[in-house]
Amino acid sequence: MGIREDLEKIGQDLQTELGKVADTQALEQLKVHLLGKKGSLTALLRGMGSVAPEDRPKMGQIINERRAEMQEALESKMRELSLAEKERRLKKEALDITEPRDIPEIGAVHPTQAVLREVLDCFIGLGFDVVEGPEVELDHYNFELLNLPKNHPARDAQDTFYVDDNIVMRTHTSPVQARVMLSRKPPIRIVCPGRVFRADEIDATHSPVFHQIEGLVIDENVTMGDLKGTLDAFAKKLYGADITTRFRPSFFPFTEPSAEVDLTCFNCRGKGCRMCKGTGYIEVLGCGMVNPRVLEMCGIDPEKYSGFAFGIGLERITLLRYGITDMRLLYEGDLRFLRQFR
Ligand code: PHE
Repeated sequence: MGIREDLEKIGQDLQTELGKVADTQALEQLKVHLLGKKGSLTALLRGMGSVAPEDRPKMGQIINERRAEMQEALESKMRELSLAEKERRLKKEALDITEPRDIPEIGAVHPTQAVLREVLDCFIGLGFDVVEGPEVELDHYNFELLNLPKNHPARDAQDTFYVDDNIVMRTHTSPVQARVMLSRKPPIRIVCPGRVFRADEIDATHSPVFHQIEGLVIDENVTMGDLKGTLDAFAKKLYGADITTRFRPSFFPFTEPSAEVDLTCFNCRGKGCRMCKGTGYIEVLGCGMVNPRVLEMCGIDPEKYSGFAFGIGLERITLLRYGITDMRLLYEGDLRFLRQFR
């Protein structure tokens, strides 16, 4: 057989093979069989030695032309196959973004936090700063500076967790008052939210860890009328315009005079119900005019300045706000309860 015939055969074989290859890998191999070092077309070129010298240029030209054609055929097949492969891959990797999935549950602000935010908003609106203090507190701030010296009988009422003789888990947020009075000059207008600790048994109205929001105002000529006005504004902002405050005389060593403050029962709006035990009122905070002795101990001149302080029980007002009857619900993290606040 002559070279021309071989060339013809190689060309036909290639057409047949090209019709069969299914992927780029097989095509790559076909290319090697044809044009590689040991490829059939390469072998053919080597056989040029046997061609008569005068025919060589012509033959060389023919072979080169055919080779170019075959290469072009291979390349166009390659383009076709890789496009098809790419399409297959894209189809396989495609995400159906319309497919319904399990939607992750979205959290919500805990009711206690929600009420805290409302309370802080209210006081910030009245010009108060928000200040925080340590939960592990020196006896000095938690008691001494608040006019509760060692062996003072009122200390017993607080069921204190002692860390050692001089360090306690703060039993109220009032130590923050003392810290602020020592570090700032009047006028002072602050609220201090935070956790407090008392060795109480857990029940529907008690927890060893709970929250208070302390308030303190010190300036010239601050009166009990300012205290009453401030707390009224707070009560109405949180629970509505028909809610009033009721002051009852009380005792705290750090305020004089002192009062316990009730709010119109949010549940029955004053008519009397089970929540307020028929009284129409619910106790929510303690307050009073800052005891001049406390002012003095904290470096503020009681002749020039006066002030008031209050301590709100955050859980108390949260229960009231939502008509919840058991404080434990606020701590247990039961999703059936919490989902209701989304
Ligand atoms: N610290 C008091 C308590 O824990 C509340 C209070 C704060 C009373 C400020 C008067 C003034 O019960």
